[in-house]
Formats: sequence, structure tokens, C-alpha cells
Amino acid sequence: MLFRFTIGVLCTPIAFPVSASFVRARPLVIMVSPNDKSPWRVVVTRRLPPAAMEMLQNAEPSLELDIWDSDDQMPRDEMIKRVSQGTDALLCVLTDKVDSELLDAAGSRLSIVSTISVGFNHIDVKECQSRSIFVCNTPSVLTETTADTAVGLVLAACRRFKEASASVYDGTWGTWTLMGYCGMDVHSSTVGIVGLGRIGAAVARRLKAFNCKLLYNDRFEMPHNADPVGAKFTSLDELLKESDIVISVCPLMPETTGLFDADKFSKMKKTAVFVNPARGELVNQGDLIDALNNGEIFSAGLDVTIPEPIDPEHPLAKCPNCFILPHIGSASKATRTAMATLGVRNVLAAYKGEDLTCQVKM
Ligand code: GLV
Repeated sequence: MLFRFTIGVLCTPIAFPVSASFVRARPLVIMVSPNDKSPWRVVVTRRLPPAAMEMLQNAEPSLELDIWDSDDQMPRDEMIKRVSQGTDALLCVLTDKVDSELLDAAGSRLSIVSTISVGFNHIDVKECQSRSIFVCNTPSVLTETTADTAVGLVLAACRRFKEASASVYDGTWGTWTLMGYCGMDVHSSTVGIVGLGRIGAAVARRLKAFNCKLLYNDRFEMPHNADPVGAKFTSLDELLKESDIVISVCPLMPETTGLFDADKFSKMKKTAVFVNPARGELVNQGDLIDALNNGEIFSAGLDVTIPEPIDPEHPLAKCPNCFILPHIGSASKATRTAMATLGVRNVLAAYKGEDLTCQVKM
């Protein structure tokens, strides 16, 4: 059998001053199949953990890999340029916008967009479908880690970790006071979960152990997730009125964009704590800032903002009662590695014509 070998190149982005002749590049042997068909070309928009990288490099038959070997975002024009060079698969992350412009640049050869995230609001899924391009995400593998983070936000926002911790570092700790930094109890509180999908259910399981009373709202009743933890389905209004802690874990869709606005905050208790580990766009951020500053709610815990990163001088970041994390919901080493390898598995399944178990359909 006759095999032809060609040399491909993995380029790193030039993120530091370089002379024109200096581009760090690693040669990669690419095996072209005996029938001389071009190998599949995969554009990867971010540096991958070694386990995911090995899976791509060891794929049989070999793939042609074009990897943005950096933890920094691949600039938009670079992404357009690279996909326009003939691309079968795009392996991307949640900060990469996949819209008509990018799909036009990629052209008809693109078969799959695989995102290393559970959220897919950065991808125009309908447009992909109209072009017969598969879209895959990485659900399930990040559920538990993201739920851990959500509970961390609940604890931090209820118990004023931001102000209390700041006092340790800015020298205002002072003497121990009886009522200093007192917040709200998490245990035994009523928690309203908006969106009882996988992550919502995992949050509910954790808070059940805190002896919380659980309410939830979703498009439909979800007995398979609700019954094991005794969560009660309510209208959104009732949930907002009854809950001490409101957690938004719904997907970002046109119907949920700006869901948490002045009207919703006004329906919450003045002592309510609002937690959002999902997407910043679920919230009308200006209304949240007003609610926090005007004492309409007690505090907020957010893993997501608009924009990301948020400027430290932004009025939201300045709210003493708003605890913000830099979108680290799924950021454990094991989980991010599992997400990246699942993202690669999705690409490889499309490559081999196998069933796509993580296909996003709308
Ligand atoms: C994180 O936000 C994700 O969508 O995976």
C-alpha cells in the first residue's frame, strides 16, 4: 500500500515581539490516506490540555491540525483567516463567536463546530443547521463542578465573603464585633432555582443537604430532577416572592435574555440573595446594580458578567454586596480536561461518521 507523507505545521500565535523570521513552529507529520483524499483539517482556537491534544494527534487516519497554541483568545480576523483556508472542523470555546460571517469564510467544507462548553449561545446554531453543519457541546462532564461553584457563590453572597475578606487585606479588620459582617443563613433557607436542568438539579442536591426548602421554575415540570430532592414547581412570581436565595441556572435563549430585570428584583424579598453562575445576559445588569445599591435585594453572587472581564471600576464591581468570580464555574483541572477531551471526541465522531451523542439541536 502506498502512503504519502506531508509535513504540516502547528503555529503558535505571535504574542510577543518577534522578528519576521521568528515564528515558533512545531512540525507535524501528516499521513495522507492511500486514495489521496485530503486529510481533514481541524482549526482549534485555544491551547488544549495534553490529554486532548494527544487524542487529536493520534487520530487515525491523521488529521491536519491548525492550532492557536495560546491561552489567549484567537483574534477574530485570525480565526476568519484560518477557517477560510479550507476547514472541516472547528474546535472552539465560548468566547469565539460563530456567526454567518465566520461560516461564510469557512465555506461548504465545514462539517462540525465543536465547542468546549455546555453553553452554545456564542454559536448561531440555526445558521449552522441551515448549512448542514453539526454543532456539539460538552454537557454532563461539567455539571458537578459547576454546581460546586454555584454553591460557593451562594455561601459567599449570603455570608458577605467579599466585604469580610477585603477587610483582612485592606487593614480594616479591626476588633471582633458581635454583629460585624453578619449575613444571611444558607441552611434552612428557601431556595428558588430557575432552571432545573442538569446543573440546577446538582445545585438542588447540594442545598438539600443544607436543609433548604427547594422551589423551582422551568418551562415544564421536571419530576425526574425535582422529586428526589423534594423541589416544588412554582410560577416564577411565586418563586421570587418566597425565596431567600434565587439561583439562575437556565440556558441563555431569546426568551431568557434579560429575564432578571427591575420587575423581577422588585418581586424578591429585600433580604434576598441573587446568584448567577450561568450567563451574564440573563440579567439586566443596570437593574441589578440599582437593586443592590437601593437595598431592594441583600446581595448577589455572580460567576458571569457583561462584559467579561468586567472593569474593576465598573459600578457592578464596585457594589460591596456583589461577589464576582471570573467565569470559573467548571474550572477544575479534571473537569476542564474532561471538557476538552469530549470536545475532541465530538470532532472525531464526526470525522469517522459515528453518532454524535452531544449534538445541539434547535
Ligand atoms: C461555561 O460557561 C460553559 O458554558 O461551559
